[in-house]
Amino acid sequence: MKGLVLSGGKGTRLYPLTYTKAKQLIPVANKPVLFRVIEAIRDAGIREIGIVVGDTAAEVKEAVGRGERWGVEITYIHQSAPLGLAHAVKESREFLGDDRFVMFLGDNCIQGGISPLIEQFGQSDWNAQIVLTRVSDPSHYGVAELDDDGRIVRLVEKPKEPRSNLALVGIYMFDRSIWEAIANIKPSWRGELEITDAIQYLVEHGYRVYPYIHRGWWIDTGKKADMLDANRLVLEEIEHRVEGFVDRDSQLIGKVTVEAGAEVINSVIRGPAIIGENARIVNSYIGPFTAIYHHTVIEDSEIEHSIVLEHSSIVAIPHRIEDSLIGRNVKVHRSPIKPKAYRLTLGDHSDIGLL
Ligand code: G1P
Repeated sequence: MKGLVLSGGKGTRLYPLTYTKAKQLIPVANKPVLFRVIEAIRDAGIREIGIVVGDTAAEVKEAVGRGERWGVEITYIHQSAPLGLAHAVKESREFLGDDRFVMFLGDNCIQGGISPLIEQFGQSDWNAQIVLTRVSDPSHYGVAELDDDGRIVRLVEKPKEPRSNLALVGIYMFDRSIWEAIANIKPSWRGELEITDAIQYLVEHGYRVYPYIHRGWWIDTGKKADMLDANRLVLEEIEHRVEGFVDRDSQLIGKVTVEAGAEVINSVIRGPAIIGENARIVNSYIGPFTAIYHHTVIEDSEIEHSIVLEHSSIVAIPHRIEDSLIGRNVKVHRSPIKPKAYRLTLGDHSDIGLL
């Protein structure tokens, strides 16, 4: 089997971070979501992985490389235009050949990996397997309707009136019958070739498509709130591990990871939380569900339930920072300059909440 990871898209709902960074590379608990996807596929025993890239190709390639780090072989596939998930698969034909494959959306984060699924599909003669999970807002996703025996009746992409609360998770397994399906579907109202329509074609034409109901958590990390949710859920599963330096005046409470080269001085860290390589936490409080990425400085400040990306600094902020997603090379500091005023340099689509 082969793996196909989709890592194109502009990530408009994560502006301004994604003006300069591919959304799949934003870290959750200090590891980019895309790396987690590659690891899940690798852990399922797959070595050949194709990554479909678009506008952010250069950045994705630089971060991922050729895959040696994970013991896999990465092939990059350039999608000529962002015309939908089925279009991305179509443009991967040369890489996939007639092999069975798993397709995984590069911004999806799922609990527990995909090894059992891949094993099940690999040993079966099914034409496709889809992963479903119950959600509270099904109209934002592809939605499946099942009959009383659990067989798929219909799949509809983002229905206005969903017939069930079973959403399609961004993980799909196919055999070569998908090529016939993709050749026979038309672009949807949003102008895209929808993978949901291709699977519906398989169902209608008597192919064997099986649903798997996922019961753990699953997050499609499209927006800030989703990133913070994914960060919280992954942090709940981290181990307590201290590789950096923690001085005697500091306190680590609960599960806290302090990565190599990090320094924690006269501070309190209440886990679950992770402090990245070479970060400096001084006279500060880091609260639960916070991920501080590498080379970051937090000094005389308090922060919780947040993600801070690399090379940023937060210094002498008098109020606690919460529910925040802070980009790279950002400086949040107290200004001694008179008159007292907020002085801001914010990117387009920035969102700040001042006291
Ligand atoms: C895509 C699929 C949708 C699926 C979702 C999962 O939506 O079209 O069926 O439920 O991924 O993340 P999109 O992210 O393109 O809106």
